[in-house]
Amino acid sequence: MIWKSLLVFAACLANVWGLPATSELDARQSQSKYVFAHFMVGIVENYQLADWIEDMKTAQEIGIDGFALNCASIDKYTPTQLALAYQAAEQVNFKVFISFDFAYWSNGDTEKITAYMKQYANHPAQMQYNGGALVSTFVGDSFNWGPVKQNTPHKIWSVPNLQDPSAAASNGGRGVDGAFSWYAWPTDGGNSIIPSPMTTIWDDRFIKSLNGQTYMAPVSPWFSTHFNSKNWVFICEDLPTLRWEQMLRLKPQLIEIISWNDYGESHHIGPYSANHSDDGSSQWAKDMPHDAWRNLYKPYIKAYKEGASAPTVEKEEVVYWYRPTPKDTPCSGDTLPRPNGVNMLHDSIFVATMLKEPGTLIVTSGSKQPVSIDVPAGIVTTNVSMGVGTQKFWVTRGGKAVLSGWSKYDVKDSCKYWNYNVYVGSITTIG
Ligand SMILES: *[C@@H]1O[C@H](CO)[C@@H](O)[C@H](O)[C@H]1NC(C)=O
Ligand SMILES: *[C@@H]1O[C@H](CO)[C@@H](O)[C@H](O)[C@H]1NC(C)=O
Repeated sequence: MIWKSLLVFAACLANVWGLPATSELDARQSQSKYVFAHFMVGIVENYQLADWIEDMKTAQEIGIDGFALNCASIDKYTPTQLALAYQAAEQVNFKVFISFDFAYWSNGDTEKITAYMKQYANHPAQMQYNGGALVSTFVGDSFNWGPVKQNTPHKIWSVPNLQDPSAAASNGGRGVDGAFSWYAWPTDGGNSIIPSPMTTIWDDRFIKSLNGQTYMAPVSPWFSTHFNSKNWVFICEDLPTLRWEQMLRLKPQLIEIISWNDYGESHHIGPYSANHSDDGSSQWAKDMPHDAWRNLYKPYIKAYKEGASAPTVEKEEVVYWYRPTPKDTPCSGDTLPRPNGVNMLHDSIFVATMLKEPGTLIVTSGSKQPVSIDVPAGIVTTNVSMGVGTQKFWVTRGGKAVLSGWSKYDVKDSCKYWNYNVYVGSITTIG
């Protein structure tokens, strides 16, 4: 009893002195790892509770802990959809937090941002980290979180996106507890496009500059967009596995997958939802599922959370991804130019083998000769040269097929619109 009251007393003192309370120290010591996915609220104006629940359950199946709810200030339906998201998350025991999109919010919005934090910081579905309500952003580098924290009764843990990693060194002055990087694709900064491979150069800069503060690292499988205002690709052909291998070495405190449903930038791993509003991206995202990437991500998420250095394959599978056409195929009906960066892409079929024991991968791409590659156990991405036509995949072991099947999607030699998004499929049986 005495010890208990002493502890309570110490915790109170700690609060008075601005030191972490014991419960927060416990939370910090436990070093739990969490994986979130970036969710665009801006395209779900018409979502019902059931739509949210479906997305959240699908995310939970692969070990995602929560959605970072990307919100614009201008969408009149933001309050309605946030309320539904928090309600759905509470029902299925999922977590959410707001990611204020500062392409729309500004430094003058402190009051409105505080109002949102007051409303949700202690909601049962709010993601808490180190005893505080997690909040993040897209850009908004110079926003001061101090006043938001002071005027919200519940503790806040702010991990905004910073474009310049060195700015993290002055986080304290802006009431900030960490940083989230948006450099999920090979780049020299901003939207500059460089050839692969992706490295951790940006992560390393963040971690150095954060000096122990929370680092939320970005993981993304792809990037291709084709809007009037934004028309480029990043070179991420082996990124679906390479980036996770980097994360297993780097072991950041938090990971945010970019994205769950940003069909516009082709990096979604969520289903192509029936009830989202189409911003024009259906031209390249419809009928180009990415679902099999979730099967690929699942063992990596588990390994990351366990601190393992490699994923464990529980179910043998082949996951493949490829673009609809060879990159120089002329498209007949497009008024926009080809996206920037496509000249750096390879005309390849990418195949991640998820195997418990070594095997031989055989790929027949269109009219090309079958290509046979010995692959080790574990998860490995290989590639073969792209041929127009049907795509067939086998894995054999000791001369016997263990996995085989055709993709439902053929590589074509004609197109109406430039499309550098990928079709993602998988093979789990002998078919
Ligand atoms: C999607 O919208 C349709 C039509 O409004 C509705 O019938 C359906 O239930 C919605 N899906 C979910 C999962 O709620
Ligand atoms: C394709 O595989 C080869 C052989 O392993 C490798 O050298 C090359 O980098 C791969 N290409 C791409 C684009 O991943």
